[in-house]
Amino acid sequence: MNIKIIYETQTGTTEYISQVMREKLIALGHQVDLHSVRYDGHSPDISQCDAILIGAPTYEDGKLETAMRVFITRFTPDLSKHKVAVFGLGNSTYPQFCTSATLLEEWVKKQSGVPLLPALRIDGFPDDLTPVERWLEEFNAKLS
Ligand SMILES: Cc1cc2nc3c(=O)[nH]c(=O)nc-3n(C[C@H](O)[C@H](O)[C@H](O)COP(=O)(O)O)c2cc1C
Repeated sequence: MNIKIIYETQTGTTEYISQVMREKLIALGHQVDLHSVRYDGHSPDISQCDAILIGAPTYEDGKLETAMRVFITRFTPDLSKHKVAVFGLGNSTYPQFCTSATLLEEWVKKQSGVPLLPALRIDGFPDDLTPVERWLEEFNAKLS
């Protein structure tokens, strides 16, 4: 399937995870494009996409990272025909842990999308990528 990963990052962790996801999904037989909100703009072409992953980190007491916050006010596609899943990054030392995932799930639902599975929440910099891989395998199983 044709999959687009839309992401934003401030210090690189979400970009790293997006790249890891891309490699894993390619290994599972998909075609995968990365779309950086900061560098690739606010109008990703999703017309040819079967599935979309969207992810961002949490900053400022539980807010979505700034560029992604702007992005979701401008990019308002009809997601009812797309398979969608969300991932969020955060750190559990903060009281509002990983609320970026919750905020992105709310955005997906507002665009008439239904996340295929519960959002992946990543705590800190993941040395162990097993949870990411397992989540992608679950996502992959739900694509067919
Ligand atoms: C100033 C600052 C504020 C943060 N606020 C939160 C927060 O409110 N909740 C949370 O879960 N993580 C918070 N984090 C942790 C980041 O979301 C986490 O480090 C994430 O992996 C960063 O992703 P990035 O490298 O893609 O920018 C904060 C980090 C910094 C430096």
